[in-house]
Amino acid sequence: MSRLVWDEQKAQSLISSVHAEVSAFLGPDAASASALLPIFHALQAHFGFIDRSGLQAIAQRLNMSKAEVHGALSFYHDFRTEPAARHRLQICRAEACQSMGCERLIDHLAHHHGLVADEPAPHGHLQIESVYCLGNCGLAPAALLDERPIGRVDLHKVDALVRRAQGLGHE
Ligand code: FES
Repeated sequence: MSRLVWDEQKAQSLISSVHAEVSAFLGPDAASASALLPIFHALQAHFGFIDRSGLQAIAQRLNMSKAEVHGALSFYHDFRTEPAARHRLQICRAEACQSMGCERLIDHLAHHHGLVADEPAPHGHLQIESVYCLGNCGLAPAALLDERPIGRVDLHKVDALVRRAQGLGHE
C-alpha cells in the first residue's frame, strides 16, 4: 500500500474538480452537500486519508460550516483521518466469529503486539480494524489481510501475520 503525504494544493484541486463534476450533474444549488461524500472519497483515494487541515477548504467550497464537515467525516467510519498503515488486518467481530474466539485474537494483538483495534498503527506497519461479518462465517474466526481472506484465524496465524507485516518473516 503506497503512502502519500498530504498536500494542500493537491487537496484543493481535488475538492474543486469533484465539486465541479457534481455541480455539472445536479446543478450548482443542489451540488454542495451532495458533493461532500464524493470529495471525501476522492481525497482518501488519493492520499489514503483525509487530513483535518483540509476541512476548512471543503467547508468553504461547499458553503458549509467546518463543524458540519467534521461531523460528517466522524460519522462515516470508513474515512481515515490519519495516514494508512502499510498493511491492514481486518478482524471480524460479529456473532459467528465471536463464538469462535475473535476477541481472544483482538486481546492478543493488543497485549502481545501493542496493536489496538481501530486505533492508529503505532509504527505504520499494520492497522488492526474491526469489521462485522465478512461473509466467511463458515471459516470463523475470519479476517482479511490487505483484502485477502483468511479463515480459522488462531494465535499462531496472528503472530505470523504480524511478523510478515513488519517484514520480519513469512506466514
Ligand atoms: S460473523 Fe464473522 S464472517 Fe460472518
